[in-house]
Amino acid sequence: MVRETELTSSDLVLPAFVCEGEGVSDPIASMPGHARQSIDRLLETAKTAVGLGIPGIALFPVIRDELKNSTGTESTSPDGLLPRTIRALKEAHPDLVVITDVALDPYSSDGHDGVVRDGEIVNDETLPLLAAMSVTQAEAGADVVAPSDMMDGRVRVMREALDEAGHTNVAIGSYCAKYASAFYGPFREALDSAPRGGDKKTYQMDPANSREALRELALDEAEGADWVMVKPGLPYLDVIQLLRDHTALPVAAYHVSGEYGQLKAAAERGWLDYDACLLESLTALKRAGADVIFTYGAMEAARLLREAGAG
Ligand code: PBG
Repeated sequence: MVRETELTSSDLVLPAFVCEGEGVSDPIASMPGHARQSIDRLLETAKTAVGLGIPGIALFPVIRDELKNSTGTESTSPDGLLPRTIRALKEAHPDLVVITDVALDPYSSDGHDGVVRDGEIVNDETLPLLAAMSVTQAEAGADVVAPSDMMDGRVRVMREALDEAGHTNVAIGSYCAKYASAFYGPFREALDSAPRGGDKKTYQMDPANSREALRELALDEAEGADWVMVKPGLPYLDVIQLLRDHTALPVAAYHVSGEYGQLKAAAERGWLDYDACLLESLTALKRAGADVIFTYGAMEAARLLREAGAG
């Protein structure tokens, strides 16, 4: 009766990895329970998610090495893996919110979110590529395009390009305060997208900073973001609360691959009760102020909530 925070399956987004082929479900070692799935298998996963009351799915494509290059041209191919996946998902589940990632790294031979020139990640040169990528995704039917690249000014160029192409109803879910975190390790293994040289510290945020998140928030709001995300989740609860207190926009939190992997690994050793720790983690993210929670544990959490009669 006096509980302040109620986690429900309608808060959750399931991130999923899609690959070429048919009947493929290639397990990701550091993310037990998750696999790189071909479109047909992903459709089955999506069906289960919808049945559990999960309203959204976030897609990450595994791009074949021979299609990667320095400007990530595959990211605007209308018949590329991601557009085909979006079309199939929207056809099968028109009400499932399809969220797509806008960043060069899965398509880039350098493994960076922006274009690399003379060892530097160049911000402004990357912007038109991100804008074009978001239009390609919208054209295929994406509901929310989510820039995770952390280039400055990308929300504005994406909004302009989307509107110009007639996609005024496609929302921008901005990764607003995305930190240069070591907790993304398992994700980069899943996509084989780790930077080939250097690190992401010149564009992602310093884990030591929180005021800087307010500057990112001000820019994203002015440029037209429809939600603002904090990433990773649990190590940055203070930042989630800070954004919640300073914006009327929805705040999203990303419980990232390393956070999920940690719980799975400890549970495998019998050191933690996975189910209880998962629900506690997600409840804490919501308590801190997250309206939307991206988590690899979405299906398990939704099942547990349903069993508890709270789904
Ligand atoms: C790519 C991207 C990353 C994640 C989401 N989009 C990795 C990165 O920035 O290196 C991480 C997600 C996770 O760890 O679960 N721009």
